[in-house]
Amino acid sequence: MNKRLMNVLILGSGGREHAFAWKIAQSKLLNQLFIAPGNAGTLQFGTNLDVNPTDFESIKKTVLQNNIKLVVVGPEDPLVKGVHDFFLNDAELKNVAVIGPQKYAAQLEGSKEFAKEFMVRHNIPTAAYKSFTNHNLKEGYQFLETLKPPYVLKADGLAAGKGVLILNDLQEAKDELNEMLTNQKFGTASQKVVIEEFLDGIELSCFVLTDGKSYVNLPNAKDYKRIGEGDAGLNTGGMGAVSPVPFANEEFMRKIEEQVIKPTVEGLQKDNIPYKGFIFFGIIKVGDEPKVIEYNCRMGDPETEVVIPRIKSDFLELLIAAGNNDLHTKIIEFKKESACTVMLVSGGYPEDYEKGKIINGLDAVENSIPFHAGTTLINNEIVTNGGRVIAITSYGSDFNQALKQSYKNIEKISFEKMNYRKDIGFDL
Ligand code: AMP
Ligand code: GLY
Repeated sequence: MNKRLMNVLILGSGGREHAFAWKIAQSKLLNQLFIAPGNAGTLQFGTNLDVNPTDFESIKKTVLQNNIKLVVVGPEDPLVKGVHDFFLNDAELKNVAVIGPQKYAAQLEGSKEFAKEFMVRHNIPTAAYKSFTNHNLKEGYQFLETLKPPYVLKADGLAAGKGVLILNDLQEAKDELNEMLTNQKFGTASQKVVIEEFLDGIELSCFVLTDGKSYVNLPNAKDYKRIGEGDAGLNTGGMGAVSPVPFANEEFMRKIEEQVIKPTVEGLQKDNIPYKGFIFFGIIKVGDEPKVIEYNCRMGDPETEVVIPRIKSDFLELLIAAGNNDLHTKIIEFKKESACTVMLVSGGYPEDYEKGKIINGLDAVENSIPFHAGTTLINNEIVTNGGRVIAITSYGSDFNQALKQSYKNIEKISFEKMNYRKDIGFDL
């Protein structure tokens, strides 16, 4: 093996991880790529390993057996559970680079209260808030009475994207607060609840890769979270995305950089919180001003399926630099084209759905990239294996052109009860 070439492991199994694999496989610095557990799409670019991303002992075995020198953590769960700390505390693993923050910093996503306190401490614009437990439930009711509807209630901990409630009626808000705190509506995640001011605006997602001191901005994106057209119905993991976001002009992006991104990275340093990995800024544009709705300690999905294809630079080179605290020596280049992605999902999702449906027509896709999410290979056939199944990503001179291309290719793909939104980008 050429000394400069590296074996890399990606943890996760979604469209985000397929997009990482697609890009890392193009790197001149890659030797072998492994994905744990991966999906039918990641198989094209590396070796899928039957290892659960939160089974740290099994990850250790895999890393040592395969001489892996860099681990990219896709989802938040292993980070919040401390996979990076596990590596640092293990004599055999401590020199393996892990892209993804340690457990303490992962609370930026894992605890809404932690994130709010961080933002207030570092003067980062966000909604006014207070947090409550069942010891001060009555004060929670009183706080709600001081607010105007709609009321925003957030479970403090991770609740699989379901922990935020937005309610129009005061009594309903009080009842839900009680459900969350007293009856643990979201389990231990809602032992604490953040109540915050409702912000009215349009949302976008911004991303950086940081080594804790320097950072590079990644392309921004807008995702579509609701299952139904016109942003109606239940929340999903995400039904589509576009990049760049047309309303985020240079002036607005400069505000985000000055008011949000820089103070966040500097705030981590001031607080002595090491951070290697991605920071996902969920931003809402209120008037002309950015406010932070949430942090995530990982890349977004399906945002990654439009962000990664727009990066021109060698992504693995940037990841290695983040691992080595060398990011200040790197610049990142983007492609000029827009990218969009449209998610094909199983009928019934985000509620109950069936798996194991044969996916037809993928071979006929032209000039789009199918990023697999919930797929697996059974008897040499690609079948559905999750709610979100495949993200169809395309480039275009603008997001409309890109969307046209994705929708054209989607016509060729089918599986039983396939569903997708036909109006991605409708509000732009
Ligand atoms: P979060 O999990 O914090 O990102 O919240 C999920 C979604 O709820 C966000 O993407 C927003 O659409 C909405 N949301 C969260 N907080 C607020 C807020 N303070 N005002 C208005 N909408 C919000
Ligand atoms: N698409 C939103 C997220 O990844 O959290």
